[in-house]
Amino acid sequence: MAQESGRIPDGLGRVMERRGASVLLIESRAVTDYPKAQYPLEPGPEELARLLEECSRFVVEHLESLPRQPSFDVTGAAELAATFREAPPESGRSLPEVLERLKPAIAKSFTTPGPGYLAFIPGGGIPTAGMADLLACATNRYVGVAAASPVLAQIEAAVVGWLAALMGYPKDAGGILTSGGSISNLMAVVAARSAKLGEEFRTGRIYLSEETHLSLVKAARIAGFSAANLRWIPVDGRCRMLADRLEQAIEEDRRDGLRPFLIVGNAGTVNTGAVDPLPDLLAIARRHDLWVHADGAYGAFFRLAREGATLLPELEQCDSITLDPHKGMFLPYGTGALLLRQPEHLRNALRTEASYLQDVAGGQGIPNFHEISPELSRDFRGLRIWLPLQLHGLSTFREQIQEKLDLARWAYDALKEDPHFEMLDEPQLSIVAFTVRGNGEKADAQGAEILRRVNERRKVFLSSTRMRGRFVLRICVLSFRSHRERVEDAVEALKEEAQTAHAAD
Ligand SMILES: Cc1ncc(COP(=O)(O)O)c(C=O)c1O
Repeated sequence: MAQESGRIPDGLGRVMERRGASVLLIESRAVTDYPKAQYPLEPGPEELARLLEECSRFVVEHLESLPRQPSFDVTGAAELAATFREAPPESGRSLPEVLERLKPAIAKSFTTPGPGYLAFIPGGGIPTAGMADLLACATNRYVGVAAASPVLAQIEAAVVGWLAALMGYPKDAGGILTSGGSISNLMAVVAARSAKLGEEFRTGRIYLSEETHLSLVKAARIAGFSAANLRWIPVDGRCRMLADRLEQAIEEDRRDGLRPFLIVGNAGTVNTGAVDPLPDLLAIARRHDLWVHADGAYGAFFRLAREGATLLPELEQCDSITLDPHKGMFLPYGTGALLLRQPEHLRNALRTEASYLQDVAGGQGIPNFHEISPELSRDFRGLRIWLPLQLHGLSTFREQIQEKLDLARWAYDALKEDPHFEMLDEPQLSIVAFTVRGNGEKADAQGAEILRRVNERRKVFLSSTRMRGRFVLRICVLSFRSHRERVEDAVEALKEEAQTAHAAD
């Protein structure tokens, strides 16, 4: 209709008219002409309660059905995705209509919060954290500067303090909640660079094991380093960095006029959950004045298990630790953390001043998060950890993480006795990695086929990797919804499919 008449209402009470190539404003509504009932972004209490009720029903139905949902379903997902390439609607639609459209969009995915998700590194999604997000987003207070909401900033600071204490850090340690492990690793590299190299860092050297996560490579690049600044250290038979090779590399680099400054130690590698020999790395770092960053995105929360301090020895001595509450604390994606023994290094690295923030300077002992983060405006992600801890207590998380370790060990024992599989290693944390027994391409092809067939049953979802030229199958137990029955399903399916593959041989 707008096209026929040449008139274009813009939804804000203004009417434009097309005249040749120009669009002219011909009618504008006076500010006082907006009747209150027409503010759709401000639903009244009854309307809001109704909308929340509809969302709540959606969530409850979805979560109730999770155990029965296929472990993945992306058939037809590309076609469905194509239907979302569209212009935004000019007028609003009803919530039930929109939710109805969202339902199949959610279904066409890997069922990452489901009990059968044992692939890659599972995330979490405890419902109480979702509730926290609703509260945080709906109340939308500003936590980037302490002056804007001191108590909420304090709540988040307390959460950071709790995490630091759980990792064994001293009281004056600190840190920041991030959106995930990759960003935490980036900030660790920047803090280490600033503390050890200052402004001139072109010849700096970072030491990583061959098993280090790709996020560290990205972090180094973003922090201004190239491939030439990275030195890859080989690993032992259990995928742990070889400390003597590390020290040799540092000495060699020093002789060559380079500036070693950072050792990245793995507190749980993504492939097999290997833990680098942190005590050895720390001793070398002390001898050569280097920073040790522990990438515990996957593994750090295993420190909450009974044998946590033995699994991750001297984690608390590392200069910084990445940990991902959206993995080991079962929170929804988007919750990471970086902890530092001396948080002032991060503060120094990011120190800036701006006169437009003069009204909110200072914090009466409560941190200004923007001073130790690349973010200024940010969500109140502290509530996502604080609320679940208030509701469930720490012991629930300790128990859950212990269960994941025990389940992985059980799966390892059960698969070890199967003649078709060869285990790479005893699980150091909660990952079981194994190949199909036999050499070369044929065994690897069988491995890929077994993985495909196991996943095709849709009860569990596993993933693979390549290591030392071999196709490696993995089970990673980390979802809070994965319990004994589902891990048994995985083991049984693997054994049956291996038997079938062997019989067809
Ligand atoms: C060891 C390790 N480091 C870093 C990351 C990156 O974390 P995020 O995916 O939260 O960015 C991961 C993710 O799986 C990881 O396993």
